Amino acid sequence: MEEEKIEKIMEIALKRAFFWPTAEFYSDRQAGFYDYGPYGVMLKNNIINLWRKIFLSEEENIIEIDGSQILPESVFIASGHLQHFTDPLVGCPRCNFKARADKLIEEKVKKQISEKLPLSEYDKLIQKYKIKCPKCGSSLKKTENWNMMLRTEIGVDFKKCYLRPETCQSIFASFPRIYRTMRVKLPFGIAQVGKSFRNEVSPRQGLVRLREFTQAEIEIFFNPERDICMEKVKEEILPLYIENKILKIKCGEAVKKKIISCNLIAYYLALLKNFSIKAGLPEEKIRFRYVDKEKPFYAKETWDFECLTSLGWLELCACNHRGDYDLIRHQKVSGKSFEIVDETTNKKIIPNIFELSLGIDRLVLALLDTNYKEDAQNERVLFTFKPYIAPIFVAVFPLVKKGGMSEIAKQIYHELKKDFSCFYDDSGSIGRRYRRQDEIGTPFCITIDSQTLQDNTVTIRERDSMQQIRVSKEKIKEELKDYKL
Ligand code: GLY
Repeated sequence: MEEEKIEKIMEIALKRAFFWPTAEFYSDRQAGFYDYGPYGVMLKNNIINLWRKIFLSEEENIIEIDGSQILPESVFIASGHLQHFTDPLVGCPRCNFKARADKLIEEKVKKQISEKLPLSEYDKLIQKYKIKCPKCGSSLKKTENWNMMLRTEIGVDFKKCYLRPETCQSIFASFPRIYRTMRVKLPFGIAQVGKSFRNEVSPRQGLVRLREFTQAEIEIFFNPERDICMEKVKEEILPLYIENKILKIKCGEAVKKKIISCNLIAYYLALLKNFSIKAGLPEEKIRFRYVDKEKPFYAKETWDFECLTSLGWLELCACNHRGDYDLIRHQKVSGKSFEIVDETTNKKIIPNIFELSLGIDRLVLALLDTNYKEDAQNERVLFTFKPYIAPIFVAVFPLVKKGGMSEIAKQIYHELKKDFSCFYDDSGSIGRRYRRQDEIGTPFCITIDSQTLQDNTVTIRERDSMQQIRVSKEKIKEELKDYKL
């Protein structure tokens, strides 16, 4: 049933050009790459606009940069990705089959296997469960570390470079300049939206595990000896998931009981929760999972923000306390000082970092999944997107093309287009036109009918209730403006 749902969503995504596999008509296309079509781009941009509003416009101390996607090798020697950013890979000596060792064992034993075991542990499990090559039945080679970064060569002397595996590395590498030029005071954040790249062994499930994907990351720089006051969110409830149990607890309590290590982390988790609900994720389907043994190599405290989808709980945002790991490493490898003076204490420090690393493609998928509805009674499917998230905000239809209705509809369309993302449609029955808009989640449809010719009023139909109101055409913008971001 749930699998059926994701298939139906993928079908709509293809049919309505939200997204599709990259180079789909070529036999050498590669898994893990997707192109976004017009509605997909609009949806994605609306999500990013909301993210900018909540984290950048409404906060005082977060600024944004746009760094390069290709970085020299030294950056990844500094970041530790060359050494540590690996998956366990197992291969067949005869037919060249390759797979992630943890996933191959999981398939056989039907339980979760950690991706962070020492390599020899995978070999022991492969022996214990007599796992052979699933393609040709041969014994498998020893498990190896597979580095997930995509390598490239730059210039006429082919200098070794890498496509960044996380956007934040350009934030860290440029930290001294940003700090100096922007005159910011601790704590402050540097944000970035952009593409990251990972050479996944087995990309899967559409937008879940991509080789090229969009991240929206915020790195908060702070002095660990000077916590913030979090009055604004103290009473906010966080759904924490620790050792297989959900704990709904106020931010203030979570810090007091040392479940979350400091106010600053609780504050940004609360902000993330509010952002995700505003984006349209249902409150009962989100949680922060405490990550213990499976933390990334640079992290000292990790909360994975997850959403329940028809594929199960899906990680959307990694919330990592990275300590001073990154800046100390970049200082060491670059030879440049990354120390700054905390103006409040007047002491020189290397700041700590807390990050919110949001996967935009996964959020797109989670919103499609949790906002999808089948309305059998009215023979329609719809996405119940928030109006400011929906690709099209308002559609305009003349009931029939004749009698001057098209002309009025076109005028209204051109006027609305100045303020809203707007779509004009005069083909097919009005019922079909409403269904087509429901299927892409358009919250409002305006129809120009014979009454418009007499009294200048139009109908506005609301997507979820299908209720219609009549308003004078001069009042349309007024009626819709409160639903904008
Ligand atoms: N910056 C953290 C991540 O990409 O997972």
